[in-house]
Amino acid sequence: MKQLQVAIDGPAGAGKSTVARRVAGRLGLSYVDTGAMYRAIAWKALQENLNVFDEEAVTQLAEQLHFSLHPQGVMVNGQLLKEEIRTQEISSLASAIAKMPGVRRILVNKQRDIAARQSVVMDGRDIGTHVLPEADVKVFLTATIEERALRRYKELKARGADVDLDGLREEIRRRDENDRTRKYAPLKQAKDAVLIDTTHLSIDEIVESIMQLCRHKL
Ligand code: C5P
Repeated sequence: MKQLQVAIDGPAGAGKSTVARRVAGRLGLSYVDTGAMYRAIAWKALQENLNVFDEEAVTQLAEQLHFSLHPQGVMVNGQLLKEEIRTQEISSLASAIAKMPGVRRILVNKQRDIAARQSVVMDGRDIGTHVLPEADVKVFLTATIEERALRRYKELKARGADVDLDGLREEIRRRDENDRTRKYAPLKQAKDAVLIDTTHLSIDEIVESIMQLCRHKL
């Protein structure tokens, strides 16, 4: 079978990772969660007591980290990171460091290396526009901010986190604004991406629409 690249982009909480993971499972492809890579750098910077706003230090850290795929999360220097990179603090820090051009350059290279070795479903903000501009299938997922905040709220609550809906909505709004207005590889729909508004769709329905798009490319 020829190599396949599926790019799924969109704002925070649009359902990208759940859907991308399922599509990858159905097609037997590797799933690459690029948001987890930005989160992992933020987490590691905190662990190492780095100043997360020191661009040079954070870029150096990004260069040193080795990322590999794992079905349950992202592996960084051999360590599996899961819940610890899903906190609101890490979300905000990841969004701040994602503005740094050096960090983006390093991660984009690592993401392209991964995709060069295997067929992938990759999700993020700049996959269809920048990381894999030649991807076979490009999808841009959206949903209203109300719906996205509610989904995050339910997800975090289910994990036993103490969260407040208004705070989450504000964090998502701020993150979207950061991601959309940053200078380097901002969040935007690629010209050739298929837009799917997931506000009133179930996960199964979204997965099915993307599977339809992929079937044409197999
Ligand atoms: O997708 P997730 O919410 O885990 O991503 C965390 C943050 O990482 C995003 O808010 C965004 O700032 C950044 N990101 C990015 N480019 C990507 C993936 C994530 O800038 N391809």
